[in-house]
Amino acid sequence: MKYASKAQFDRILILDFGSQYTQLIARRVRECQIYSEIHPYDIPVERVRALSPKGIIFSGGPASIYQKEAPLCDPYLLRMGIPVLGICYGMQLISHLLGGEVVRSERREYGKARLILDRPGRLFKKIGTEGGALEVWMSHGDQVRRLPSGFRGLAHSRNTPFAAIEDAAKRIYGLQFHPEVVHTPKGLEIIRNFLFEICGCSRLWTMQSFLEEAARDLRKRIGSRKVICALSGGIDSTVVALLLHRVIGDRLKCIFVNNGLLRKNEASQVVRLFQHHFNIPLIYVDAEDHFLKRLRGITDPEEKRKRIGRAFISVFEREAKKIGGVEYLAQGTLYPDVIESVSTKGPSSKIKSHHNVGGLPERMRLKLVEPLRELFKDEVRELGRVLGLPKEVVGRQPFPGPGLAIRVIGEVTRDRLEIVRAADEIVIQEMEKAHWLDRVWQSFAILLPVKTVGVMGDERSYEHAVALRVVRSQDGMTADWARLPHPVLGEIANRIINEVKGVNRVVYDISSKPPSTIEWE
Ligand code: XMP
Repeated sequence: MKYASKAQFDRILILDFGSQYTQLIARRVRECQIYSEIHPYDIPVERVRALSPKGIIFSGGPASIYQKEAPLCDPYLLRMGIPVLGICYGMQLISHLLGGEVVRSERREYGKARLILDRPGRLFKKIGTEGGALEVWMSHGDQVRRLPSGFRGLAHSRNTPFAAIEDAAKRIYGLQFHPEVVHTPKGLEIIRNFLFEICGCSRLWTMQSFLEEAARDLRKRIGSRKVICALSGGIDSTVVALLLHRVIGDRLKCIFVNNGLLRKNEASQVVRLFQHHFNIPLIYVDAEDHFLKRLRGITDPEEKRKRIGRAFISVFEREAKKIGGVEYLAQGTLYPDVIESVSTKGPSSKIKSHHNVGGLPERMRLKLVEPLRELFKDEVRELGRVLGLPKEVVGRQPFPGPGLAIRVIGEVTRDRLEIVRAADEIVIQEMEKAHWLDRVWQSFAILLPVKTVGVMGDERSYEHAVALRVVRSQDGMTADWARLPHPVLGEIANRIINEVKGVNRVVYDISSKPPSTIEWE
């Protein structure tokens, strides 16, 4: 759902020129409690005017400004009187559009660099340096050789004569390095200076103020009508339900479908949280047989996903009809799913069909309510805290919609689900015990469709192998396998082999994403 206005929040626009860090820039701005939005680089001037931003940031990008198809924004954006900060490619673009000269560097500069400040400027105000130098992160093959008129250099590095530039009168700035990445330790302070010293933003974007405004908008939009919401046990749908319940009370109808593909105790936890902790009524549907019947004999990952999606829709539709008179469907869509830009959609959205209630709104003529569509995951967690969600729920690892079905490689049966569920419980317990559970994005077990020979006591065994997948990630789009201490790995493997019937081997998955994905199917 689009809110009519974000008028009460100062807004920063981020134009995406294809950088892998575009989302990170947006998140950094929001960490400073300023609302930010990502837009494609060729956003029309009228649209910018309508959004009336306090400032604009041009992201970096892989292109060279002198390539034929280099992405260009409307040059008029630099004449609107709105402060602009260009990062990397963004700075080269500003220089190019205003008559400076950009050339290929003699040497590509990648990695840490020492930035030497040549003169004071508002971008670097109150930033402590070590003898006039700052550590920054560079990643570029081109550089600005001649500045446009009106500009002056603020800093240089060994290989880059103009590493920070400004036209203070026009409030246009450029940085050749990346202030948004953690490898630039003072980067957030530089961004803060742009937001507060240069754009004059006020810190208004907090989850408390978001909540108040969202509640006002939802109240106006939904009036006295009924909304249904599918709960999955995950943080997104939980927060959507809490938010809506606060606004429309029992006109919100929550449905929780137990598809038999959940983690141990997950269903009872959801019921407890809603019915006992929050006193929100819940329609609980036991649909285990319905799902397992539809998965019988299916081994292809995409087919599994599709069947689960369809089974879900048919159960949900039936329940919604029983309620009757529903006009809205609430969904936990987040901001990364709605950004229309070049670099923010990773390839993964096309690689696996994600299971959600897609298709339902049209079939049932339901209108969508998506109150989280402007939020990043960490903001949803914060909103959950504001709404009183217990810590364990807020910090929960993501769990895929198709559940354990995509962690049982090969056919999904009750017995095989039981094995992976028992192994999963051990993984969670041991990760928690070792204080690693919160430090990783996900940690789980996968049941492999291979049997291997082992020896138990004096007897030969011939049983299943389980893979352990533990990854660190910012957003699930890229991930790296976690370097778990060997004793933790050892304990998890030991317990799975000893306690889970049917398993005699555990292997550790040491692949990163890309080229692998996080889930195996
Ligand atoms: P992959 O396997 O694509 O997963 O690297 C990236 C993240 O998305 C989660 N995932 C899903 N989440 N429905 C979801 O809601 C799905 O169908 C689905 N498939 C994968 C996965 O757990 C990881 O966090």
